[in-house]
Amino acid sequence: MSAPVLTGPSAELDDLSVWPASTARLPGGNLSVGGVSLTDVAERFDTPAYVLDEGEVRARCRTYRAVFPDADVLYAAKAFLSRAMVRWIDEEGLGLDACSAGELELAVMAGFPAARIVLHGNAKSPRDIETALRLGVGRIVVDSPSEIARLAAQVGSGGRQKVMVRVVPGVSAGGHEKIRTGTDGQKFGLSLTDGSAQHAIARVLGQPQLELTGLHCHIGSQITDVKPYLVAVRRMVGLMARIKESHGVTFPELDMGGGHGVAYRAGESALDLTALARRLNGKLSASCAAAGLPVPRLVIEPGRAVAAPAGVAVYRVLAVKPTGSTMFVAVDGGMSDNPRPALYGARYAPRLIGRSTTAEPVATTVVGRHCEAGDILAADVLLPGDVRPGDLLAVPVSGAYQLSMASDYNLVGRPPVVAVHDGSARLLVRRETQEDFRRRDIGA
Ligand code: LLP
Repeated sequence: MSAPVLTGPSAELDDLSVWPASTARLPGGNLSVGGVSLTDVAERFDTPAYVLDEGEVRARCRTYRAVFPDADVLYAAKAFLSRAMVRWIDEEGLGLDACSAGELELAVMAGFPAARIVLHGNAKSPRDIETALRLGVGRIVVDSPSEIARLAAQVGSGGRQKVMVRVVPGVSAGGHEKIRTGTDGQKFGLSLTDGSAQHAIARVLGQPQLELTGLHCHIGSQITDVKPYLVAVRRMVGLMARIKESHGVTFPELDMGGGHGVAYRAGESALDLTALARRLNGKLSASCAAAGLPVPRLVIEPGRAVAAPAGVAVYRVLAVKPTGSTMFVAVDGGMSDNPRPALYGARYAPRLIGRSTTAEPVATTVVGRHCEAGDILAADVLLPGDVRPGDLLAVPVSGAYQLSMASDYNLVGRPPVVAVHDGSARLLVRRETQEDFRRRDIGA
């Protein structure tokens, strides 16, 4: 039996449009995700806990495959990685974008075919490169001139590694200044405008140990508009045309990176993937035709748009503090499991679960339990006016760049990850414990 949909002043609090598609209302103000009640998750696994809806992850992978049938879709592991995630991504036919020896080892240990992995990084360590070569990754993306000779030397004579070159196309896009990577003046890639990209490409072409399969760009993250991608693809094809002119080579692939934006709160817009696919492919074909180039195979690298909407964070309220100007509701997690509000001013919409109430919504600031005033999870959001200690709050769109960026601040310990699917819940990553802290701290 499902609970009635709210109307009137509480309707805004009851909007489930950014929640996983499997989310259902249960009686008593509870919700289920993947057929599992969120209050049951809190009881069984304690709080804070992160719930990951396997069906939602898989459905999002399938949407990408359906919308981009002729492209290689690589999941950007930095958004969230675990062995189960690796398996789902593999089974759904996606590749993987990794950026460290750690991500590479985890993926391959979990059975992911190394040939479908691309290694990124503006500063790859010798161990990153050694690991990539030992495991046999499909591509390594060159990000700076200094790594070209080093990479060629590590490949060694007789070896040949497929590489791409990361280009900065001069397009500004992204949800926050810290995640805009498409223009000069930030640390990633090689500039198209000052000639460093062309120079690096020439050097890579001169290395027999390196096989340049194509160019790469990643203009930013949390992009909700198609247009910046179209400008970027036009410029990338322009560069490919110049390379053909000067070196007589054409490339079989073109990697346009990730960055596909999602809605964090009801009413926000997400990047329209169908429109992106249609217009990006259209622009790619037209630009290549105009330049007399064969159309390269498109590669894309979504992270957030695969993982974020599949995750829900569940917290317990520890304290409620009405002050003159603000109603503070403090929960048992915070910036150690979700640094995004503090880092990027990200806005979330927490929801009371597990209890029905007719209390009027009031403007509330949901804060964490950490020792600084900037530990705010959601400023100025509407929550029922009677929220009290012991209540549960759930935050949708929590599957990307939260746990993957989590810290041990205040030694609170990182929360577990619980997969939900077809009515059953299973632990993917256990909660970090005092024992974990003790084990790492080996000094006397
Ligand atoms: N490819 C490359 C080379 C990247 O650097 C990234 C993200 C992606 C793909 C995936 O981008 P996505 O589709 O997830 O937007 N911590 C920030 C996001 C940083 C993104 C870093 N690079 C956040 O929480 O918003």
